[in-house]
Amino acid sequence: MKLLLLCLGLTLVCAHHGENHDVVTSNFDMSKISGEWYTILLASGVKEKVEEQGSMRMFVESIQALDNSSLLLKYHKKINGECAELIFVGDETEEEGVYSLSYDGYNEFHVVEADYNDYVIFYFLNYHNEEITQGMELYARKPDVSPQIKKRFEELCKNHGIPEENVQDLTNADRVSFPVCGSMQCAASPATHS
Ligand SMILES: *[C@@H]1O[C@H](CO)[C@@H](O)[C@H](O)[C@H]1NC(C)=O
Repeated sequence: MKLLLLCLGLTLVCAHHGENHDVVTSNFDMSKISGEWYTILLASGVKEKVEEQGSMRMFVESIQALDNSSLLLKYHKKINGECAELIFVGDETEEEGVYSLSYDGYNEFHVVEADYNDYVIFYFLNYHNEEITQGMELYARKPDVSPQIKKRFEELCKNHGIPEENVQDLTNADRVSFPVCGSMQCAASPATHS
């Protein structure tokens, strides 16, 4: 019995240790970012950008690290009440780990923190008509994450001066109430909608 309790105790210690053990905050291995993701939280210095109809309000499907060091990013988004699939290629800039892509102007982004099998946090700057807006995104491997990770994300946003009220939780958003998205019926690009 004592031995059993000891074993149980050790297992708990190990399980607890394992919780934070995989969090990476630098030297990211982008090949480990590859795969399916779900948008969990979105934050922007300009709140409208992450609200309904906002340009940043979109749902990630997958990220793929390409051999040429670019990233292939797939999203879906509600545009004029319909689902559109958005596909981007983010090219690595001169700065290692910093990627750029064109959407709603020009964007530069990098990973801030990741637990490759659980979540990833991106920070980005959007340049649009002389305006620079910062934003952050929390993606997860499953449709939701622990409250601790959401808290952590809000903390990081605050550190960058993005207030908590500019953080949108998309776990219960249109992703579920918008059944067309995620199926093959998505349009290939928003340009096909007029
Ligand atoms: C890498 O390959 C992708 C897909 O072929 C392409 O769109 C992208 O521009 C390439 N990146 C660079 C830096 O050449």
